[in-house]
Formats: sequence, structure tokens, C-alpha cells
Amino acid sequence: MSAKERTIQVAVIGAGAIGEAHLQGFQSHPAARVVALAETNEERARTACEKYGVPEAVSDYRDLLKRDDLDAVSIALPNYLHAPVARDALDAGKHVMLDKPFATNARDAARVLDAARRKKVVFMVGQNQRFPPERQKLKNLVAAGKLGEVYHAEAFWLRRAGIPRIGSWFTQKQFAGGGCAYDIGVHMLDLCLHLIGDFDAAAVSGRTFAKFGPRGLGNGGWGRSEIDPQAKFDVEDFAVALIKMRSGRTVLLRASWAAHMLERSAENVILYGTEAGATINPPQLILPGPKDYRAVPVPAGRPTVNPERMAHFVDCILGRAEPYVKPEESLRVQRILDALYRSSETGREVRIRAE
Ligand SMILES: NC(=O)c1ccc[n+]([C@@H]2O[C@H](COP(=O)([O-])OP(=O)(O)OC[C@H]3O[C@@H](n4cnc5c(N)ncnc54)[C@H](O)[C@@H]3O)[C@@H](O)[C@H]2O)c1
Repeated sequence: MSAKERTIQVAVIGAGAIGEAHLQGFQSHPAARVVALAETNEERARTACEKYGVPEAVSDYRDLLKRDDLDAVSIALPNYLHAPVARDALDAGKHVMLDKPFATNARDAARVLDAARRKKVVFMVGQNQRFPPERQKLKNLVAAGKLGEVYHAEAFWLRRAGIPRIGSWFTQKQFAGGGCAYDIGVHMLDLCLHLIGDFDAAAVSGRTFAKFGPRGLGNGGWGRSEIDPQAKFDVEDFAVALIKMRSGRTVLLRASWAAHMLERSAENVILYGTEAGATINPPQLILPGPKDYRAVPVPAGRPTVNPERMAHFVDCILGRAEPYVKPEESLRVQRILDALYRSSETGREVRIRAE
């Protein structure tokens, strides 16, 4: 059988809230087969195996990595496990889809990237917000110069009460690394930099706040992992950053898990160009007209890559597509978020070294 016709055998590591989306995603690709999952919670493992017809579950993911018949793993674990598990999988020669955020710090992320380069396998951070067809189309329009020079952009994801369950790993720094910036800020920041085609940040000035979680307010209910009622809420529930790109353009990032606001959730990327503007919600161009401005919807059209990220990952393994999320880009996003936290701690603008 040629490489292009073979079945790609995958294991999903972590069968919590988003692990289920990974399982569904692989089902959408005819050449993919989930042959095992790794999950420490037995009941969750059993339920997922039954629901998705997965033949085997183990509690220790390292048992999977020994298998020669396994091509790839898809990691849906708490953030602190991202880098170590991804490295183990890459060292074992597996292709890796790693859910966001890349890691809990840029140093660990860089080590994962090194491992991926050494093994020459497909490695991708699962930035699914890039994939909807209208966003792929908008990316192409921006790259074709439709907006002129994009000199400023704003990226935000603000939730009114969206802390993913107070007391879970999400709200403890030792397991999550950070709060809303790592959880949802990372999505909009990554999407924004992808749309403008510029990940090269020079300096970040940021501030984080924790005004709701420590009072037990703002609970959202996402996630399946265990709750520790005694755990201290020690991550942020609001973050803001001004990012100065080396090109001279600026990006303003805001993220909240909890805030007094009318909408339950507000998320957008707004691009300001010399010839036109654009937003992702709704997907539209904002064009000057002879009398007034007009909004022109961005059509879905034919997407550049499969809009289902897991199917795209399989296409990449089969050599049918190039990774739509480059690990070098994800490392740069991680560096910006690290700089945001450092800036908040020090009260100073943090410079990012040129590469
Ligand atoms: N791309 C997205 O839109 C998106 C959305 C939500 C979450 N996420 C990311 O996905 C990851 C998982 O989030 P979630 O919401 O599914 O969390 P979750 O708490 O619901 O699930 C995590 C699962 O990992 C299991 N687990 C923990 N340690 C393990 C180990 N050593 N081996 C095997 N299994 C282990 C837990 O038992 C749990 O079932 C996080 O990093 C989160 O940031 C991404």
C-alpha cells in the first residue's frame, strides 16, 4: 500500500471536555482511525471508548508510545502536561497534535519544537480558531493586500462568567500556567497574528487581574477534571496587553474569564488597514465608499485547508497538506504571553529578542 493510501492510526491522550472534540474530529477523516486512548480517569476512559468505538484505553500514555502501529497522538491534557507529553511522543517518533496553549512557558515550548525538528514529524498546536473557512478566506484577502498596510489590530475574547470551573486545574497556576490569557486570549492572539501574517513582536506591555475568581465569582462550568475545593485561585481572570511588533504595527489583546459586561461573550479580531478594515465576527471587510462606509461579508469559499483541524493534521501526515499552524508561530505566541505575564509582574514593558 502506498503511503498516501494507508490508514493513520491515532491515539488521543486525555478524554476530557476537549478530548471528545479530538475524537469526533478524527472520525471525520476516512483515513484516520483512533486505535487507543490514554486517560487517568477510568470512568471517563470507558465512556469515551464506548461512545467512539475506541478498542483500547490505558492510564499511562507511555504504554501507547511503545506501540509501533501508532502513527500519531493528539494531546488534550491539562496545560502543565503539554510540553512533557509532547516531547515524549515526539521522541518516540509520533506525529503530534497538541491542543493550545503550546506550553506553560516559552523555554519548554522551544524544547518541544527542537524535538519535532529532530524527528521530522508533523507537529502542530491545535489553534482551531484559524480554521473556519471565512477566516481562511480573510487571511488570503489580507495577504493579497485588500486592506493595504495593516497598521493596528485588536484581538479580544471576553467572557462575562466563563471561568472553567473554579477549583479545577484550570484555576491553579501550577497546573494551568496562567488563566484567561492562556485559555482564550491565546486563541484570538494567534488568530490575529495569523491573519496579519506577522508574529514578530518586539515589546509587550501588559497587566493581569484576578478580581472575580478569588471571590468565587464568575464560574463558567467548562471542563471535566476533578475539583479541589481547597485550591487557591492563583491565575488571572482578566488580561490586557499592548504588543508592539517589530514591523511598527501594534496589536491590542484583551481576555477575560469574568467581567461586568452586557454580553455573555464577546470575541473578535479587528484589523485596521490603510485601504480597508476587517472583522471576524461577523466575517467582513469594511470598505470606504463614495458616500459612506459599507460592510462586505467575507464568503466561506473554498478553504485552503480542511476546516476540521484533526482532519487537516491527518492530511499533513499523509503529505497532502502543509501544517496550517506552524510551530515556530506558536512559539512566538508563547513568547508574547510570557512577556505579558512578566510585564505585569515587573510593571515594565518587556522586550522580546529578535530571532
Ligand atoms: N482548542 C480549544 O478550543 C480548546 C478548548 C478547551 C480546552 N482546550 C485545551 O485542551 C486541554 C484540555 O482541556 P479540557 O477542557 O479537555 O480539560 P479537562 O479537565 O476536561 O480534561 C483533561 C483530561 O485529561 C485527563 N488527564 C489528566 N492527566 C492525565 C494523564 N497524565 N494522562 C492521561 N489523562 C490525563 C483528565 O482526567 C481529564 O479527563 C487544555 O490544555 C485546554 O487548554 C482547548
